[in-house]
Amino acid sequence: MSGLFITLEGPEGAGKSTNREYLAERLRASGLDVVLTREPGGTPLAERIRELLLAPSDEAMCVDTELLLMFAARAQHLAQVIRPALARGAVVLCDRFTDATYAYQGGGRGLSQERIAQLETFVQGTLRPDLTLVFDLPVEIGLARASARGRLDRFEQEGRAFFEAVRGAYLARAAAAPSRYRVIDAAQSLAQVQQALDALLPELRGLPRG
Ligand SMILES: Nc1ncnc2c1ncn2[C@@H]1O[C@H](COP(=O)(O)OP(=O)(O)O)[C@@H](O)[C@H]1O
Ligand SMILES: [Mg+2]
Repeated sequence: MSGLFITLEGPEGAGKSTNREYLAERLRASGLDVVLTREPGGTPLAERIRELLLAPSDEAMCVDTELLLMFAARAQHLAQVIRPALARGAVVLCDRFTDATYAYQGGGRGLSQERIAQLETFVQGTLRPDLTLVFDLPVEIGLARASARGRLDRFEQEGRAFFEAVRGAYLARAAAAPSRYRVIDAAQSLAQVQQALDALLPELRGLPRG
């Protein structure tokens, strides 16, 4: 038996965390076993790696360290949470996954796609999300929402060019494999975004398993 692996992607302030709760509720209401999780993190050890990744620090983190920590956390998360949940047939709803690595460490930091793809295969084997929702919005709107949330983490402290590159990388990945991605206009009001998600629900429930 194999479950359904759905990831939520997009830049800071796009509404991933807000809408993952909404989607989980709606899917649970239709009787599905839903595991709600996030990256980096999702297990106690992986959450400790998250803290290392997000905390501003006097020592600059080199990009390879950042990339390897992302995949180290992911390996733990896959082993402890994602693979077991999929094996029992659950819907896994994950706030960020490897598309974020392509967007942030690839687009944002400039690491090559090939380097990331090597680690993706090493850590994930052939496992990829069944569906990825990309919450897309202009950089300045996302940054305004994120900064209203409080203190900025190590990524949120990056400049505008970084986030333009992140956004561009997400959109390029969605355009390159349209069957796996749904791009949601996250600049709309929350009510409009949730209408767009409602329209996706029949498709989510009906997605082929495995
Ligand atoms: N469509 C929306 N319109 C206005 N504000 C929103 C919308 N979606 C989310 N927000 C607000 O923006 C902030 C960031 O949302 P959040 O879900 O934490 O984004 P993310 O997890 O993608 O960084 C929160 O304060 C949230 O309430
Ligand atoms: Mg969030």
